[in-house]
This record gives sequence, structure tokens and C-alpha cells, in this order.
Amino acid sequence: MKLITLQSKNTTYQIGITDTGFLLHLYYGVRINCDMSGTIAYYERGMSGVPYDLRGDNTFSCDVLPQEYPCFGNGDYRSPAFCLRTEEGVYGSDLRYREHHIKKGKYQIPGLPAAYGGEDSVTCEIVLEDSNTKVIVILRYGVFYEEDVMTRSVEVRNSGDMPVFLNKVLTSTLDFVTGEYELIHFHGRHMMERILEKRPVLHSKQCIESRRGTSSHQQNPFVILAEKGTRENEGLCYGMSLVYSGNFLVEAEMDQFDQVRFQMGLSPEMLDYKLEAGDRFHAPEALMSCTTRGFTGLSHTFHNFIRRHICRGKYKDIPRPVLINNWEATYFDFTGEKIIQIAGQAAELGIEMLVLDDGWFGERNSDTAGLGDWYANHKKLGCTLGELSERIHQTGLKFGLWIEPEMVNEDSSLYRMHPDWVFKIPGKMPVLGRNQLVLDFSRKEVVDYIFENISRIIDSADIEYIKMDMNRSISDVYSAVSKRQNYGSIMYHYVLGVYDFLERMVQRYPGLLIEGCSSGGGRFDTGMLYYTPQIWCSDNTDAVERVWIQEGTSYGYPISAVSSHVSAVPNHQTGRSVNLYTRGIVAMAGNLGYELDLTILTKEEKEMVKTQIRDYKKYWHLIHKGDYYRVDSPLKGGEYGAWSFVAKDKSEALLSVVCIQARANRPVYYAKCPGLDLDKLYYCVQTDTAYSGAALKYVGVPVPILNEEYYALQYFFWSLENKEEFEV
Ligand code: DGJ
Repeated sequence: MKLITLQSKNTTYQIGITDTGFLLHLYYGVRINCDMSGTIAYYERGMSGVPYDLRGDNTFSCDVLPQEYPCFGNGDYRSPAFCLRTEEGVYGSDLRYREHHIKKGKYQIPGLPAAYGGEDSVTCEIVLEDSNTKVIVILRYGVFYEEDVMTRSVEVRNSGDMPVFLNKVLTSTLDFVTGEYELIHFHGRHMMERILEKRPVLHSKQCIESRRGTSSHQQNPFVILAEKGTRENEGLCYGMSLVYSGNFLVEAEMDQFDQVRFQMGLSPEMLDYKLEAGDRFHAPEALMSCTTRGFTGLSHTFHNFIRRHICRGKYKDIPRPVLINNWEATYFDFTGEKIIQIAGQAAELGIEMLVLDDGWFGERNSDTAGLGDWYANHKKLGCTLGELSERIHQTGLKFGLWIEPEMVNEDSSLYRMHPDWVFKIPGKMPVLGRNQLVLDFSRKEVVDYIFENISRIIDSADIEYIKMDMNRSISDVYSAVSKRQNYGSIMYHYVLGVYDFLERMVQRYPGLLIEGCSSGGGRFDTGMLYYTPQIWCSDNTDAVERVWIQEGTSYGYPISAVSSHVSAVPNHQTGRSVNLYTRGIVAMAGNLGYELDLTILTKEEKEMVKTQIRDYKKYWHLIHKGDYYRVDSPLKGGEYGAWSFVAKDKSEALLSVVCIQARANRPVYYAKCPGLDLDKLYYCVQTDTAYSGAALKYVGVPVPILNEEYYALQYFFWSLENKEEFEV
């Protein structure tokens, strides 16, 4: 058997090519230096299918052997990654190896986001062919040696002379011949996104998926497969993240011989993608990593990787402005004067940017009208957008604006002008979501029009930031002019249209900070992070519930991706009142912002906001560049949630603790701070005590019991060697 072995610093990926051209998945895991073909067991499996050219040898069945890219129709009855149909309705293919190439540098994918790397990354390309249809499948692997990340993507080329239909093209499959595994995924709902759930992988196919047109609040395209018993800080686990913002599928399946298949990619539901002779199709990229350092190790890998190889632009590595957003302060009910007042107050407190949220354009005074009409409402603002921006800049603040480019209200000039630009099935009344319809972004002229109109707005005023929102799940998928009249291909091209819009924004406005948003965190994925280095994490701004949401998010996404605001109390989503100090501690575990009417804060509250901003800036390098540790989770049902940030050189750490439920006469809670040098001494100003890294890892700091709900504490530790360097 010929081998292809991809090595990163601590992991190995190995593929075997059999004499008859089958690709066997030999290994992905902790780094090894040997030929793994000896781990493949060939047994007489007479009742499983045998390829015709191997007839007589019942020890070779694709149904049993670990497949690198399982296709439907070659005798493998487990869930396939690839399924092809011909015009006559014939399903089935038999992909065999033709050649492979290894090149320096990382491949890119036309029209789709993908990790980027320099000369230190490597691309491996394996070409497979189905000799019957002449369909070529190119499997691409990107190897990031230092980061321990392997990426995968798939290209399908129709080199035959008849069209074919793609019904399933997943991106990555991992077949495990042995081991007991658990699937960890992040489910949720609007205002409660990314809550961890764990389940054993048993004898059936378990799916994590979205069919909403976005990656969704309900499921997330970052998942973990962990060896049974894996814990936060130790154990073998695999992470996969799909660099895609639309419908996706994750499958975990245990087969008849207790082997496990774990795969991810574009959702095949209703996919029937017509690939004309000569055409190409690109599946989105998946990021994969593997570690024995438990969930923390996996999170650190994904955090570092996303920060370095997915996020782009001016704000990739520098602090982003602390902002005030007017949404929860005013909702749709504001005037230009009110916005200026908020900006003036914000400037006094040290806030750096004002973001004008929904309601500044067209006849948009509620969510029933105006979407799609991208011209400023001068009557409501009392001036032009340019003038408003100028006045905001005069207060010393930058200016940012909310948009929702993919949507339209029926009550809008755009819809009256172009009623055929929306997804709407002829003869059927469309499903509305938040009173709006979805523009057909699979059509270039629609994207062109929206891009021109939004650009006109950005060019008309000094705008440094855009919040790009998307507030409904997609339905009634039918494109009035496109030749692609089926759901699967239109949905794919819709997502490509969104990426096209975003790429044009990024190219035309390199200094612009774009924040992603989809009713909060309904499109929180690595696809969006390629264009928008931060995403509004949730419409739930309640500090206690944010501890849950931000913790779940942290498994697959860096803190620098999270946008988090201090809002008013009682909280608008839960009615809970959490003190301002705690709200600040929770919001600074992300990109800190404010979303309340600052003009009505008390003098003491204003002082506290100033201190929060000062602290956030003081700790920014730790929060955004350090290693994040989940110390205690609300999921455990305890009284405290805790997390910490540790400098990469282990010289400092910041530990935050929030009491999430007050209980009488409770035991003392010891907040641990792992990740520091075990033998070094660290001084903590809040307790005026020095602790060794080992004491902080294994025992922790005793947290005072306060007779108060939702109190929070923050502990800053720094290595005594650096004591003089730090200003308290
Ligand atoms: C949903 C977002 O998540 C909110 O923050 C806000 O921007 C509203 N949309 C505005 O309509």
C-alpha cells in the first residue's frame, strides 16, 4: 500500500492507497512515525459488498474498511460523504485514486472563505476519478505545522460530457477503527446560543445540522468528538469547524463492527446540484485538530488558529473601539439629537465609538417597514448622515452603523420596485420572519444593487464600523430568474452571494471594522469570522445568562470573536437585575461595549463605567491574546461561574468569578487559575498574597461569601519577577 503522511508538530494524518486505487483512512491522531497500514484488519466479511475487481477476496469491503472519502455505491453502506446521480436517475459512483501532489502554501477556494497561510503551510491534493461518469473529485488538505491544524476541502469537476447531479458532498470524514467516543455539540435558541451537550456515539447515525439557511442559533458547525472520559484538561479529542455560514451537517455513526465515522460538510438536505459538463463545484472548508490536552487544549488550538489564519483586516490584532450601541437604549424610537446626547455622554466616560443601530433609514420606525431602503431618514435624524457623523466625531467618538443587507420588508420602496427579487414560491404565500422577506442573494444583480446602495451610504459619511445583521431563517427558496430552481443549489449560491457582498466590503473599505450578527449569534461560525473579526454573540445581554452563552462559544471560538455589551437593568430579556460591576466583568470577556441610555446613569455608575473601560484596556492583551481557561461552568449547576486569561509567557493572569446563584451557608468556593508556571510565585493585589502557579492550579483562591446575588470578583496575578513593572 502506498502512503500519504501529513505531519504537524504534534499530530499525524495518514492515508493509504491500495493497489486498486481505494483510499483508506489509516490514521489521524497524536503524532506517530510509522506505517499505519498494519492496523487495518482484513477479515472474511462475505455478507458485505466486495468491489468487482477484487472478487473472490471477501476480506476487502468498503463497508468495513476505514474510508478516506466514502462514496455511495461502492459497497459502503455507512453514511457516505459523496453521492452522485446521473440524468437517468442512476445513483452510485466508485471513486479511485489517480494522482496526488504536495505543494508549498495553502490552497484557497474560489468564492468561499478559507484559512490562509504563508510559506510554512502545505497543500496536499489527491485526485480521484469515477471512471463511469468521468467525474473528478479533488480532495485538498492544508497542513499548518506549528498550529496542529489540518484543513480539508473538496472540489468536484465534471469532465464527462453529460450533466450530473450532486446529492451529497461532505468535506471531511474521519473513520476510527477502534475507540469509544462521545459527540459534543452546541445547541441553543434565539437568546440562548451554544449550550454544550454531550452524548455517546452509538449504533445509529446522529446528526447535528441546520436547514435554516444560516449556521443557526439552534446548532453550531463546531463540534468535538472525544474519547470517552475526556475532560477539560486531559484526554484525546478531535475538533471540526466548518468554514461556512449556511446549512450544514455533522454525522457521527457507529457501525456494525463498533467502528466510528465522524463527518462534516454542506447539508445534503434537498441538495440536487446540477453540475454541467465542464463545470466545477467547491465544497466549503473544514478545520480539524486533535489533542490529548482535553477540551482546553482543543480550544486553545482553535482560538490561536482562528485569530491567525481566519480573521483578517486592520482590526485583526489590535484593540477594537469600546462602543456604545443605541439599540437597547432607544430601539426604533430616537432622534438625531438623542443620539448626539448619548455620544456626548459616552465620550466623557471613555467610550470610543457610537453605533447607530436599526431605524436610521427609509421609513423604518418599527420592524414592519423600510428594510431594503438604504437611504438615511433625514426627517428622523434631523440632518444628513454625514452631518450626524460629523457631530459624533466632534464629541471625540468614531461612528458605526447597522445594516441588514439580505432582507426586505414588503412595505418598502425596494420591494415595490422589485417584488421578484425575494425568495417566493409561485402560487404559495411566503413564510414571513420578523415581518420580512429574504432577498435572493444567489442573483448577482441583487447583490450588486445592495452593495452599491450600502457603499453610497458608507461613502456619504465618516463610518468606521458596520454591524451586519440578518434576522430570519430562510424559507420559500425559489429564484425567479436563476436557472438553478432547486433548493440545495440556490441555498449554496445564496451563501456565496453573502460572501461576495462581504468580500467586496472588505476590499473596498480595508479600514472598516465589520461586526457579524444574526439576531445575536445565529451565524456565529468561522465562515463569517473570515470577513467579520467579531460577532454579536447573543441578543441576550443578561450578564448571568451571558456566562453560559460565552462559555459555550469559547469551545470553538476565540474571545476576540465575541462581542459583548453592558446593558440596563432590569435586563430587557430576563427581567433580572445584576449589579453594574458584574455586568462589566462579563462583558469584558469579549469585545467590550455598552448598550443602554448612558444619559440616565447615576454619578457613581458613570464612575464605574470609566473604571471598567480602564480595566478592560489594562487587561486587553491578556483577554484577547492570552490563553483562555474555562475554570467553572454554570452547566455544572454550582454557585459560581469562573474563567481566566493567562499570558502566553505565563507572566500574568486574570481570573474572573461570578456568583450565579446565591445560597445560604454555602461551602467556600476556591477559584482555580490553571496555566501558570507551577514553580513561580504570583502576586495578587486583590488578596495581597503571593501564590505559586501550583497553588493556583490545584487549590485556588478562596472566594469571599457575600450576602448578595450575582456579585463578581476579578483577580489579577503577576509573576513576582515583574512586580515593579506593573502599575496598580
Ligand atoms: C437583532 C440584533 O441582534 C440586535 O442587536 C439589533 O441590532 C436588532 N436586530 C435590530 O433590529
